[in-house]
Amino acid sequence: MVLAVKVPRTEGEKVRKKLLERGVLDRRYRIKVEEDYIFIPVTSKVEEFEIVDIELEKAERKPHNYREVVKIPESLRKFLPSSFDIIGNIAIIEIPEELKGYEREIGEAIIKVHKNVKAVFMKGGRVKGKYRVRELILIAGENSTETLHRENGIRLKLDVTKVYFSPRLATERMRIFNKAKSGEVVLDMFAGVGPYSILLAKKVKVVFACDINPWAIRYMEENIRLNKTWNVIPILGDAREIAGKVKADRIIMNLPRSAKDFLREAFTSAKDGTVIHYYGFGPEKDPFGEHINVIRKIAQEFNADVKILDKRIIRNYAPRQYNIAIDFKVTFS
Ligand SMILES: C[S@@+](CC[C@H](N)C(=O)[O-])C[C@H]1O[C@@H](n2cnc3c(N)ncnc32)[C@H](O)[C@@H]1O
Repeated sequence: MVLAVKVPRTEGEKVRKKLLERGVLDRRYRIKVEEDYIFIPVTSKVEEFEIVDIELEKAERKPHNYREVVKIPESLRKFLPSSFDIIGNIAIIEIPEELKGYEREIGEAIIKVHKNVKAVFMKGGRVKGKYRVRELILIAGENSTETLHRENGIRLKLDVTKVYFSPRLATERMRIFNKAKSGEVVLDMFAGVGPYSILLAKKVKVVFACDINPWAIRYMEENIRLNKTWNVIPILGDAREIAGKVKADRIIMNLPRSAKDFLREAFTSAKDGTVIHYYGFGPEKDPFGEHINVIRKIAQEFNADVKILDKRIIRNYAPRQYNIAIDFKVTFS
């Protein structure tokens, strides 16, 4: 028997909301309708309503996590990854060696729980090459690699096998957006399909968005159309050749693997007061030290002063390796 509030059917929805607000709705059971009355399960008595003891069916709880539904031997459950990326309607997961042979079960469980996911790919290796893309292997669903991803109020079309894109940077991109000011000229040196550029374009005067990968520029052009951000200027080419041709108030250097090799180019595009958003990888015990030393050394070559505005760890990248961000301001003496 279960404790339930008995109210006329016509009052049902109003009372259910009230009980929900008060935190006494018992979600373990299903609401029952009988003739002109409705019985709403509650966790404790509620003074103003009639309370009865009644037989109610158990509610089926929808699983929220693929790990609850995946069919694999019990002993292997501990190896199941706790998270994975969702880009548009594509899920991308890294599957450890121990789960070899169960890829399909994992993929199908993800599709079952995440109704918007149409395809699941597993990572075939590390992000590599100058375009920073990775090999992906289809493990469940449709073999379609192009998708439309929504983040921070913008839409981004991309092919996960042709360009780099990480949904985990959404908060970081919003942080930069909040710092940007109207009227600014921005240079996004490693822009990909435009997640920083298109977002910033909503606020600043113009964004020069450079990438060496022709697919990234193709998708960026499409994303400019989708978001009507006509103040993004896509530039296909090597940031080394483009830097210096533009003087910017804000520069984004989102190429953590080798941003330090492009600092000279960033300084060439800087003017007095330019803010540079620099990304890198660093070891757990001193993630920023090496990067800050290089930044200061290159600043000297340009007779520039550098003021570190902020430094933060964005995420774990590999065991004992962090993906870090450093914001600094450049002034020329
Ligand atoms: C880590 S991804 C970042 C992309 C984008 N900012 C984002 O957040 O999704 C780095 C990008 O830099 C591009 N890239 C690599 N070397 C480059 C270079 N020398 N000049 C311009 N772009 C380059 C790659 O093609 C890739 O799209």
